[in-house]
Amino acid sequence: MRVRFLAIAVCFVMVASLVSLAGAEEAKHEFIGSKKCSMCHKKSGIAESWKATAHATAWDKLTAEQQKDEALKPFYTTGTDAKGNLLTGIQCEACHGAGSAYKSKKVMVDKEAAIAKGLLMPDAKTCAKCHNEKAPTDALKATVKDFNFEKMVVKGSHMMPSKTKEVEKKK
Ligand code: HEC
Ligand code: HEC
Ligand code: HEC
Repeated sequence: MRVRFLAIAVCFVMVASLVSLAGAEEAKHEFIGSKKCSMCHKKSGIAESWKATAHATAWDKLTAEQQKDEALKPFYTTGTDAKGNLLTGIQCEACHGAGSAYKSKKVMVDKEAAIAKGLLMPDAKTCAKCHNEKAPTDALKATVKDFNFEKMVVKGSHMMPSKTKEVEKKK
């Protein structure tokens, strides 16, 4: 009797801690959507220049038929936010990681702190999550051959104020 009670108690504790672990993990990595990032990243021109990319509009350019195809979603959306809204297109967080834990100004100004809370500084590997041979559309597949990170990143992300400043300093 006692042994059985103990066994049940141990199981309960294990399940409870697994559930709370999963909860904490999720809370750390919730997508918030590019509109929220853009509120602070507007003045630099980043938000506007991202909006002009093929990434911002990739979902809108799909046919109604394609938008129903689950296989396309990992490539043409950013995922869902905490409320379950589908974040369409390749938004900030598809490259920079889910932002719920790093979005506050206090964290953002401290790059190390932001990275500890999930901010990613994207590199060629980030692009390869979608720009790869498994791409579900011809348009995306066409970008895979000769994918040159240095060239593609200019066209595919947004302006980089820090690099522009460097160029200006050199003048
Ligand atoms: C409350 C305002 C605010 C919000 C919301 C915000 N940021 Fe930031 N972010 C900042 C500030 C301030 C910095 C510091 C550097 C700067 O001024 O650009 C920064 C820096 C960054 C950096 C550069 C890190 C570095 O030091 O090189 C990235 C990348 C970034 N944010 C991405 C995002 C993304 C993606 C989102 C949305 C998930 C987001 N930010 C939301 C204010 C914000
Ligand atoms: C296609 C991928 C991609 C998307 C989408 C994207 N970024 Fe970036 N972002 C990058 C890359 C790559 C860098 C440069 C990383 C580095 O310097 O190591 C960068 C750098 C930044 C920086 C630092 C800029 C600087 O001058 O150093 C900020 C701030 C930033 N991103 C914010 C955003 C915000 C806000 C959005 C959405 C409106 C966004 N990014 C969307 C790829 C992306
Ligand atoms: C979440 C998936 C995803 C990620 C991550 C991603 N892309 Fe894309 N990219 C797409 C999709 C989808 C398109 C639009 C394809 C289409 O036209 O249907 C696209 C289009 C582009 C285009 C326009 C191609 C053209 O011929 O006009 C460029 C440039 C680009 N991506 C560069 C990048 C770079 C650089 C990175 C990494 C820093 C990156 N992408 C990360 C999915 C992604």
